[in-house]
Amino acid sequence: MNLTAESHRIPLSDGNSIPLLGLGTYADPQKTPKGSCLEAVKIAIDAGYRHIDGAFVYFNEHEVGQAIREKIAEGKIKREDIFYCGKLWNTCHPPELVRPTLEKTLKILQLDYVDLYIIELPMAFKPGDALYPKDENGKFIYHETDLCATWEVECHPYFTQPKLLEFCRQHDIVIVGYSPLGTSRDESWVNVSSPPLLKDPVLNAIGKKYNKTAAQIALRFNVQRGVVVIPKSFNPQRIRENFQIFDFSLTEKEMKEIEALNKNVRYVELLMWRDHPEYPFSDEY
Ligand code: A2P
Repeated sequence: MNLTAESHRIPLSDGNSIPLLGLGTYADPQKTPKGSCLEAVKIAIDAGYRHIDGAFVYFNEHEVGQAIREKIAEGKIKREDIFYCGKLWNTCHPPELVRPTLEKTLKILQLDYVDLYIIELPMAFKPGDALYPKDENGKFIYHETDLCATWEVECHPYFTQPKLLEFCRQHDIVIVGYSPLGTSRDESWVNVSSPPLLKDPVLNAIGKKYNKTAAQIALRFNVQRGVVVIPKSFNPQRIRENFQIFDFSLTEKEMKEIEALNKNVRYVELLMWRDHPEYPFSDEY
């Protein structure tokens, strides 16, 4: 596959295609100034990104929609150039809520359609206004759900998911790897017992050879093996840096060296929900 900045889409079975590199847009709403997401998405589109990953529960989906609409109005892109992925939150799993929830998302985005709509997590919560419903004892209130879900998967050089990748290859399923840079290491939701991915000596040494950063090597590794990546950055320089991965390629030996870094340790464990009957991370995938 010859991947370039302009052409790095892979085909999907329904005739659509997905760009291998997308911009992640989750940032802690308490710590992130309003408008940062709007700016980041616009910078990303200018840098060449055509895939944006967002969600209702990130509380900035209106900014994502506005950025896409502004860039369309400027004539920089057409709607069909963009691949937008939205997500159904845990409190909206009952089938009768799916359509109205998607319609709400479209209203927030002020777009006519999303390109992909996935179940954010397979663990349903009690439907209602509270996005994180808790009882009087502070315990999360879960909900029964008949789960038949496509599943988004953490994927990076410390968690390379060889079995899942092989299964998906056999069944023609594309994997989208979240946290491809090893997350923001926010201790409120990240298991920081595994060392920071981007400090890894092998990734840095390979990066040196190509005049690239460890982040670019981590992203290139996945893209080169057909795994879609959605690195989050709201920093203009890093947004651009993360897109500069189509002007070099890793040798087979380097791909193997990076694969060997696998530690089978998740950064995103979501242990606060480990008693949920559908908690997904106890099973091997
Ligand atoms: P920032 O938004 O300030 O750039 P992941 O996509 O694995 O969840 O990682 C996201 C985290 O990595 C964010 O904290 C983001 O911060 C940071 N980040 C994004 N791109 C880079 C990069 N090229 N080098 C170092 N850190 C990065």
